[in-house]
Amino acid sequence: MQRVNLPGSDLNVSPICLGTWQFNGGQVGGDKTWGAMSVEESKKIWDKALETGINFIDTAEAYLNSHSVLGQIMDPSKRRDIVLASKVGNGKGANSAPYTAEDIDQAVTTSLEKLKTDYIDLYQVHWPTIMADVNETVAELKRQQAKGRIRYYGVCNFGPNDLRGFLEAGGQPISNQVCYNLLWRSIEEELLPLCQEKGISLLPYSPLQQGLLTGKFQMPSDVPEGRRRGKLFHKDSTPLARHGHDGAEKEVFQAISEIREVCAKANIPMATASLSWLLQQPCVKSVIVGASNPQQVVENCQRVTLPEDVVQKFSAATDPVKVIFKGDMDQWAYGRSS
Ligand SMILES: NC(=O)c1ccc[n+]([C@@H]2O[C@H](COP(=O)([O-])OP(=O)(O)OC[C@H]3O[C@@H](n4cnc5c(N)ncnc54)[C@H](OP(=O)(O)O)[C@@H]3O)[C@@H](O)[C@H]2O)c1
Repeated sequence: MQRVNLPGSDLNVSPICLGTWQFNGGQVGGDKTWGAMSVEESKKIWDKALETGINFIDTAEAYLNSHSVLGQIMDPSKRRDIVLASKVGNGKGANSAPYTAEDIDQAVTTSLEKLKTDYIDLYQVHWPTIMADVNETVAELKRQQAKGRIRYYGVCNFGPNDLRGFLEAGGQPISNQVCYNLLWRSIEEELLPLCQEKGISLLPYSPLQQGLLTGKFQMPSDVPEGRRRGKLFHKDSTPLARHGHDGAEKEVFQAISEIREVCAKANIPMATASLSWLLQQPCVKSVIVGASNPQQVVENCQRVTLPEDVVQKFSAATDPVKVIFKGDMDQWAYGRSS
């Protein structure tokens, strides 16, 4: 698989990054997003990812046991071949106070211990709201970088205002990891051009909208409960929802049906088309995709160049969803990004 440089760094990454939120060591989280996954299954997914040419891995201290599972399955002799991205935030518990410099220092220490490594290649602020103070955060990230415990830093879920504030505080993030996929295009108007202007790479997460963009769910009730927590679904779809939005289930499943039809005519699997579409967007260097088995990793590494007419049909199919969530930076809850 090819390598792509993340500008502002010497990190050369595969265009497909393996997301490891799913690596929960057999423990299902309170949000019920993913089923239990044994360490053995995670190891099979990991091995398949490396075999297929992926060198970019995303984790977070907030992902239940992901750090310790990775610590168990990463081969220390191959550590230098991996670009390891992690995140600070929520490791202290869901409703804990925002992170001070000391908290960030402690979080790096704990993450390194669990991951059984002495550096993290890309360390990201998980949400803007986890920072006690943006100036303090930027200074601490630079201090961690100077100590060699993190190589570069980036942000996640930062909307245009959050990103401007981070830059004004002297931050030089090389990337912004955001929710971006055919069903959630709210970054396109303001955030994407801003990242482009500032030379900040976009790393889309949930690129398959947690499985919806593979086409395997025919109707809202087919979607597992934990994946109906977001604003694409009505607030009453599950008590796990934290958003109070009316959702857009009709528009979402109409869009999926149209994408499915376009893909069938073009003879391209929907997952391949959805991931390839993202990789054709400006500023997108690598897409972070999760898997529940090794076969999905293989499927998700297929890439095609989509013809212009297919791209246009995808836009037309998903515009009705896009207008409902225009500029909304947070699919899961209100007020964490702006
Ligand atoms: N920064 C943040 O705030 C943030 C938030 C969310 C995620 N992330 C990162 O982004 C990564 C990816 O996002 P995500 O896991 O939320 O969503 P995703 O990558 O869109 O969806 C992954 C899930 O879709 C299903 N799937 C994947 N490939 C498939 C295929 N080829 N065919 C059929 N089903 C397939 C699998 O679930 P089933 O087989 O169980 O259906 C898999 O677990 C995460 O692991 C995490 O590293 C970051």
